[in-house]
Amino acid sequence: MSQPTFKNSFTRKYRKGPYSRISPTQPALSASGKTVLITAGHTGIGFAIASNFALACAAHVIIVGRRQNMLEKASKDLSRAHPATNFHIFAASIIDEAAVSTAFRKIRQDIAEPDVLVTSAAYFPSSTNVLETPMQQMWASFETNVRGNLNLVREFLNAPRPKGVSLTNQSPKRDKIILDVSSAATHVFVRKTGVYSASKLAFTRILATAQDESSSLSQNFNLRIHSFHPGVVLTQIGRDNDHNEDTMPWDDVQLPGQFAVWLASPEAEFLKGRFVWANWDVDELLDGKERILKENLLKIGLVRKAEWAIALRRNTWKL
Ligand SMILES: NC(=O)c1ccc[n+]([C@@H]2O[C@H](COP(=O)([O-])OP(=O)(O)OC[C@H]3O[C@@H](n4cnc5c(N)ncnc54)[C@H](OP(=O)(O)O)[C@@H]3O)[C@@H](O)[C@H]2O)c1
Repeated sequence: MSQPTFKNSFTRKYRKGPYSRISPTQPALSASGKTVLITAGHTGIGFAIASNFALACAAHVIIVGRRQNMLEKASKDLSRAHPATNFHIFAASIIDEAAVSTAFRKIRQDIAEPDVLVTSAAYFPSSTNVLETPMQQMWASFETNVRGNLNLVREFLNAPRPKGVSLTNQSPKRDKIILDVSSAATHVFVRKTGVYSASKLAFTRILATAQDESSSLSQNFNLRIHSFHPGVVLTQIGRDNDHNEDTMPWDDVQLPGQFAVWLASPEAEFLKGRFVWANWDVDELLDGKERILKENLLKIGLVRKAEWAIALRRNTWKL
């Protein structure tokens, strides 16, 4: 067993665009009645995730980003395309703890308790050798990609208990789902992305621990945290770094858009606390469910080869 990479996929089929099995209009993937909060849902991959949750009949999609004009445009376009979903926008920087807290208070007061949090906003430092990255950009990466995202997670999980409901008598508990739009760069070596990779990995790793620890906490909800690589998609960030349609074999933005909806569905529950790629075929993942759970696969960490584990058990291992 070696680590999955761009050339060494975890599933035989490697998806590059949307496919019918994860079409959000299927009843099994319905997000009917759900409230979904997406950071950077006004641009790039976040926008595709917002559209796909609307196709899955989400009741409310809330978008958080900093640029008011871009938020308004996205909200108008999304509302026109999906009139049955209510779109809401909040202009705030996720780094601003007070602004995030105020947004959540207003959301809970005026809209609904969020069921799904999608952390798509990210800071991308310039593409340089790691030690040549200006210190300001190094810290900005961690400020946005770790601290900013943690501001959201803390507020999202700080759900008030419904009146008159104790931790034990609330049945069934509601799901609270975090979709961490992470990156393959957390575990695949990609040149000149050292600082970005480390900041994405830091948040993903904190979330994996939070999922692990949640089983021993008394909470009035079931926590599901999923980290995923969304594919390699041409967005404004790529264009700002001199990419265009011809510079890479890009993935279709609708692939992570659909995949996010699938990941939040009951079918993907077994993948909580794990890391997957939007490119991996979901039927193959479902076929491999027993093995994934039994061998504790798809966790961030060092990889050991299967023969190593066997030899260790037999006490025959030698380096
Ligand atoms: N594109 C890819 O190939 C790729 C590959 C792997 C992983 N990813 C991950 O996918 C996610 C989306 O990437 P993308 O390429 O689609 O980027 P994008 O959404 O086009 O750009 C990032 C967005 O984040 C928002 N943002 C940045 N800092 C923020 C802050 N402090 N507060 C609130 N919003 C902030 C920006 O909106 P405002 O300026 O309006 O705030 C910006 O539009 C990211 O998490 C990225 O790491 C992308």
